[in-house]
Amino acid sequence: MVKVFEKELPLDNGVPAFVKPQRRSTSKWLIAGFLVLGYFLLNGFSIPSISFTMDLTENDIDYKLTYLDALKTNLAGNWSKIYTAEPHLAGTNYGLVEFTKEKFEEYGLKAVVDDYEILVSYPKDHDLNLIESSSGKVLYKAPLKEDVIDEDETTSGDDLVPTFLGYAANGNVTADYVYVNYGTKDDFEKLKALGVDVTGKIAVVRYGKIFRGLKVKFAQDNGAVGVLLYSDPGDDNGITPANGYEQYPKGPARQESSVQRGSVQFLGGVGAYPGDPTTPGYASKPGCVREDPHKAIGKIPALPISYREVKPILAKLNGHGVKLTDKDWIGELEGFEYYTGPSKKVELNLYNDQDFNISTLSNVYGEIEGAISSETIVIGNHRDAWIKGGAGDPNSGSASMLEIARALGELKAKGYKFKRNIVLMSWDGEEYGLLGSTEYGEFASQMLKRKVVAYLNVDVSVSGPVLGLEGCPSLFNVLKKVAGELEYPEEGVGSLLDHFLSHHGDKIGALGSGSDYTVFLEHLGIPSVDMGFGGGKDSPIYHYHSNYDSYHWMEKYGDKGFVFHNLMAKFLGLVALELSESSVLPLKLSDYADYLIQYFDTVKDKIPKSWFTETVKDKAVFQEYLTYSDDDVESIKSDTNGFYQVHSISPFTEFLQADVCPTHKGNLMYQIQKHLNVTLDTLIDLTIKDLADLQNASSNFDAKSAELLMQYENRDSLSWLDKVKLWTHIIKQNKLMQYFERNFIHHKGLHERKWFKHMIYASGRYTGYAGQVFPLLQEAIEDNDFERFVKGLGVVTKAFRRIQHQLE
Ligand SMILES: *[C@@H]1O[C@H](CO)[C@@H](O)[C@H](O)[C@H]1NC(C)=O
Ligand SMILES: *[C@@H]1O[C@H](CO)[C@@H](O)[C@H](O)[C@H]1NC(C)=O
Ligand SMILES: *[C@@H]1O[C@H](CO)[C@@H](O)[C@H](O)[C@H]1NC(C)=O
Ligand SMILES: *[C@@H]1O[C@H](CO)[C@@H](O)[C@H](O)[C@H]1NC(C)=O
Repeated sequence: MVKVFEKELPLDNGVPAFVKPQRRSTSKWLIAGFLVLGYFLLNGFSIPSISFTMDLTENDIDYKLTYLDALKTNLAGNWSKIYTAEPHLAGTNYGLVEFTKEKFEEYGLKAVVDDYEILVSYPKDHDLNLIESSSGKVLYKAPLKEDVIDEDETTSGDDLVPTFLGYAANGNVTADYVYVNYGTKDDFEKLKALGVDVTGKIAVVRYGKIFRGLKVKFAQDNGAVGVLLYSDPGDDNGITPANGYEQYPKGPARQESSVQRGSVQFLGGVGAYPGDPTTPGYASKPGCVREDPHKAIGKIPALPISYREVKPILAKLNGHGVKLTDKDWIGELEGFEYYTGPSKKVELNLYNDQDFNISTLSNVYGEIEGAISSETIVIGNHRDAWIKGGAGDPNSGSASMLEIARALGELKAKGYKFKRNIVLMSWDGEEYGLLGSTEYGEFASQMLKRKVVAYLNVDVSVSGPVLGLEGCPSLFNVLKKVAGELEYPEEGVGSLLDHFLSHHGDKIGALGSGSDYTVFLEHLGIPSVDMGFGGGKDSPIYHYHSNYDSYHWMEKYGDKGFVFHNLMAKFLGLVALELSESSVLPLKLSDYADYLIQYFDTVKDKIPKSWFTETVKDKAVFQEYLTYSDDDVESIKSDTNGFYQVHSISPFTEFLQADVCPTHKGNLMYQIQKHLNVTLDTLIDLTIKDLADLQNASSNFDAKSAELLMQYENRDSLSWLDKVKLWTHIIKQNKLMQYFERNFIHHKGLHERKWFKHMIYASGRYTGYAGQVFPLLQEAIEDNDFERFVKGLGVVTKAFRRIQHQLE
């Protein structure tokens, strides 16, 4: 049940255009073309404002050189210091809201603060005791605190954020406990098979593999009454004291008292959704209706602890329950022999107390306006952190983003005229469940779908030296182009692109649901990318969501000299500029088609063999497969701003016989029922053929983009009429690129996850972070649901065919 009541929401006065939901524009390329033509006819060529249409940048300034020149000064460390000096949990540090806004303004951006009222939880009290069952005696009381490190100033003080899990339910439970490995769906199933019952017990789970909120969800679904989450040294790539590495601050190994805080919202789980748990699918503006949040958050208490704290607890399970032999179940915790438990001799008392508040969360936006006001490039980073520091997560990204603002500001100050809008967005509340970005995306959905060309996300910009990129294939080419122009800051490596290719090959990963791009890509269909420098195999351990993710760690281990912060500002800023300043948008649609073919191949390999020869009988399935409903047509038109049309009500004419081909829907179904006996392999072959056609059409389309760009670059020799024609073509070409991704929005949403609407990308239902391609198909396979698979195949094939038709 998704309600969008954007139009009814009160609008603040003075909000810049990019945060105001606007009416859908009726302009089509034709109209635009005529307007341009009319303009030229009326005004001739001589007046300066002609530059608006034909020559958008009458700039003497080389934007790349000027931008990079500004970044020869590196102030990232200065910003990092400021962002990481005080606690800034979601909704709690208005000083940093104002600081960010002032900086944006100082650099010439039009800035605004956009508030939402969102349910979050703040820590009040916690307790964890290991108890002897027979006597009730407390054997061990966990301190639930990270050690103070003198040389690292943000690890001490009376303003430290306690160790806690956002949205973990309040409660005081005493129960037996069991070790459940990573707490994945499979792990709980394996325990069941081993005869270990989790019902009524506290689940002790190690971090890793899947999003922590889903660990709590699966524990709850399996009857657990509480959850403890800990970091096992076995997940530290061998950078451990056992292998001779010293702990932070002396060395690169994990500090044994470090605790990973974090949200246990259910995020991408079945039935769940990101954003405010009380406002599924609509914005948390004052006065909005609120719903029961428990589809998105849990009902059992949970606490995070360090490996030092979990040791005495898990050691008590030695010799009790099942001894685990599967190496995937065994970590490297000293003194624990990896038994499941429970033990009759001991139990745990777990107490969690938090305030659940409707709190005001503040996003900050800063805009540079371009000549084409209807096309916007967005760069986003969140500001909130779980701890006082947060030098990696997220404020390395915040520091890089302020550097981008500064360098763009210098361009602007020098009189450079931007072609498209560039907007920087500083989100609040990402950590709790992508709160600020999701609520904004829901609030301004129509405007964003209309205007945004691409969303570029940077969360942790630096926690190590290895560049990671995930995103939509249409953007891969521009990312590679820019990476090829920058130098990697290490002798002998070559360009940033050389570095990337040597680590990842010529491949961009699929986005899941780890950060603020989620609403843009998976709810709105806006092409997105997420980037950041992370750790390699032998990099120092990054203390994620711990007090040791501090300025001191960053300066000493993470990024000496803030060199990678600076490189990220160069890279991300130049990608945005490449997107905003190219007269013909640099999206490469054939790359998208190539990836679709590969993705479909992997899906095909997972289809049960017996399905291929199974006949599709159900009339309703055919209906979904062969026809567009009025809702389909409406949403496609609206999502693509009218640039992608539905031309024919039945796209699968190969199923119809010419002599009986009627136009009436009811008749059509009758004929299909009577004459066709279709097996799945026929449909699969059809999809493969459609993908090949799409690939061909998109290659031709890209060739046309290149041709248009060449003509544009040589436009001086054209007559004015030919210039008008050329620009008209470019407008159409750009709009088809801008709205290409929107075609993958399925307005009905995914199965049991209606908020997630992208038919190519979603987070896995059982993993949370990791991306899963073709979710409509893969989930149907996982659920062994043949008919849903066929319906899903119909949905994606219709999209392929429609897009191909439009691109030709
Ligand atoms: C940045 O930090 C350095 C070193 O602390 C300092 O010398 C410099 O003045 C700072 N610059 C700005 C603009 O804050
Ligand atoms: C939690 O429950 C335990 C055992 O019932 C009790 O001893 C303890 O006082 C309770 N803690 C709080 C803060 O209520
Ligand atoms: C949350 O609500 C509690 C109880 O109403 C209040 O005491 C506390 O100050 C609030 N916390 C924040 C950070 O707003
Ligand atoms: C690819 O597209 C071109 C241009 O539209 C067309 O002539 C050609 O037949 C297509 N090739 C295939 C294999 O569909």
